[in-house]
Amino acid sequence: MVGEKSNLSKMKSRNHYELELMKKSGKIASFALKKALEKIKVGVSEFEVDKTAQEEIYKLGGDLSYKSVPGYKYATCVTVNEQVVHGIPTERKFMPGDLVSVDLAVSYKGWHTDCAWSVIVEGQKIEDKKQKEKFLKTGEQALWDGISQAIAGNRIGDISAAIQTRIESEGYNVVRSLVGHGIGRQLHEEPEIPGVGKAGVGVILKKGMTLAIEVIYTQGSYEVILEQDGWTYSTADKTWAGLFEMTVIVGKDKAEVLTEM
Ligand code: MF3
Ligand code: CO
Repeated sequence: MVGEKSNLSKMKSRNHYELELMKKSGKIASFALKKALEKIKVGVSEFEVDKTAQEEIYKLGGDLSYKSVPGYKYATCVTVNEQVVHGIPTERKFMPGDLVSVDLAVSYKGWHTDCAWSVIVEGQKIEDKKQKEKFLKTGEQALWDGISQAIAGNRIGDISAAIQTRIESEGYNVVRSLVGHGIGRQLHEEPEIPGVGKAGVGVILKKGMTLAIEVIYTQGSYEVILEQDGWTYSTADKTWAGLFEMTVIVGKDKAEVLTEM
C-alpha cells in the first residue's frame, strides 16, 4: 500500500473463529497466486494472468479483495521490470527475461489476505539470468527475515530492520513510500509496516495480529514515480523492482504464514 500517516485505533488481535476464516482466505489467495505465476510465459499477456487468478479465486469460493479499492476491477496487480506496484493488467505480452511481479488479494466471507511474488520469464541470456536470480533471491530472503520477526513482544521496527538489512546487504534499496500493512476485515488496516526502520522501535506486536508483510525494493534508487495511468508506480531511475509479500499471524514463538505457496 501507499504509506500515509495513521492512527492505531483499528489494530486488533483476531479470535480463533476469525483466524480460521483468514486461513481459508489465505489458502485461496496462495493457490490462485501459484496458478497465476505458472501461467507466466513468453507471449502470454498480463490480462491472461489476471484472468487465471480470477477464475481460481471464484472456483475456490473466494472474492476479489481489490474490488474494495474504488475504481479497480481486477484480481491482481501485474508489474514488469521497472514497474514497482499497482500495475493494472493490460494486453502487454511477456518477453524473455522480463521480471514479472503478481500481487493478489482475496476476500473470503469478508476476511482479506494479500500476497505477491516475483519471477523471471524464461529465455534470456545466462549472464543476465544469474544477476536477476540473485536480485529475486535476496527479496525472497528479506521477506522470510521480516516474517521471522513477527512474534509477540517484538515491534514493527524489528520486521522493518530485518528487511532493510537483507536488501541493503546486496546493494539494493527498499522503497520508502510503499509499505506493508495490517490486514483482516479490510485489505489495508493499521499498523503500517515499512521495509526500512530501526529494531526495537514502533508498535508492539501481539499474538493473533494479522499482518501483510511486503518487501518492495529496487536495483537502483528507491525513488518511485506515479505513471500516467494514475495507478502504476515505477522506479524513477528505470532500474528494476521486485515484490514479495505474505500475510501472517503473529505467534508466540513463530509467525504462521497464511499465504505460503
Ligand atoms: N496489494 C496492494 C497493496 O497492499 C494493493 C493493491 S490495491 C489495487 O498495496 F487496487 F491497486 F489493486
Ligand atoms: Co499489500
